[in-house]
Amino acid sequence: MTIQWFPGHMTKARRQIEEKLKLIDVVIELLDARIPLSSRNPMVDEILKGKPRLVLLNKNDLADPQVTAEWVKYFAEQGLPALPIDAANGTHVKEILPRVKQLWAHKIETMLRKGINPRAIRALIVGIPNVGKSTLINQLAGKKIAATGDKPGVTKGQQWIKVGTEMDLLDTPGILWPKFEDQMVGMRLAATGAIKEELLHLDDVALFTIKYMVQHYGAGIQERFGVQELPEDMENIQEMVKVMEAIGRKRGAIVSGGKVDLDKASLIIIRDLRAGKMGRISLERPF
Ligand code: G4P
Repeated sequence: MTIQWFPGHMTKARRQIEEKLKLIDVVIELLDARIPLSSRNPMVDEILKGKPRLVLLNKNDLADPQVTAEWVKYFAEQGLPALPIDAANGTHVKEILPRVKQLWAHKIETMLRKGINPRAIRALIVGIPNVGKSTLINQLAGKKIAATGDKPGVTKGQQWIKVGTEMDLLDTPGILWPKFEDQMVGMRLAATGAIKEELLHLDDVALFTIKYMVQHYGAGIQERFGVQELPEDMENIQEMVKVMEAIGRKRGAIVSGGKVDLDKASLIIIRDLRAGKMGRISLERPF
């Protein structure tokens, strides 16, 4: 799902989350492990108003595990527990409930001390479009939940999904908008598929990706695409285009006359990246 966000949509999204927050104990904030800050809502702390929160770094199957470990440390330093997961395959999804319970343990202790039987913890998943909210809800539910979303005109009472006996999850997630103002954030969102590539020029997104990869995953490019020499000057666009051409040639993006079709090469680069065919790549680092 890709939403074109306008100020009215943002206000509405915020209001909808604030309504849901009244019902819940713990927030599960879903981020893209490849671009944790760029896939984060710029006002999230303000919107969530201090609710206990677990950060999940989703799509970790596509992210660089070393960089993800750095991100976990980064969030811990901010006082936020973070867990890398892969919602599509269910990897580490079973660790979510124990982590949510840790965040609510003090409340449960208080209730027990007062002789009250603690009820199931109520949780809400929030995140930007395409980060994997529905996939995770379905994994936690153990079945496919109809995705009604928060569409105007769809009136539906709030449903709870039982995750074991100890957690109830709201069946519709909170949809947040990403931070678009920053052009680099836009590039990262487009490269990973969080926003439609048509919103930006595909060749710009591919060039951004290649520059990042030359800088951080140079050996991988050389090996995979048989590129002999990598540019040393990151600002040398011509040299970067040569790398794109080498990839295009290797992947058969050739037009008559033997020239590389750069549009096609750009599409191949973006598709390969998103599908993890270039290896596990993170496009943002905390340092
Ligand atoms: P949303 O509710 O937050 O909008 O996201 P949704 O669950 O619809 O997931 C968006 C896309 O991300 C889906 O791919 C989904 O399969 C994929 N996805 C979710 N979690 C993971 C993950 O942990 N790893 C990987 N690799 N992909 C994940 P899609 O292209 O829209 O559909 P499809 O590929 O399933 O056909």
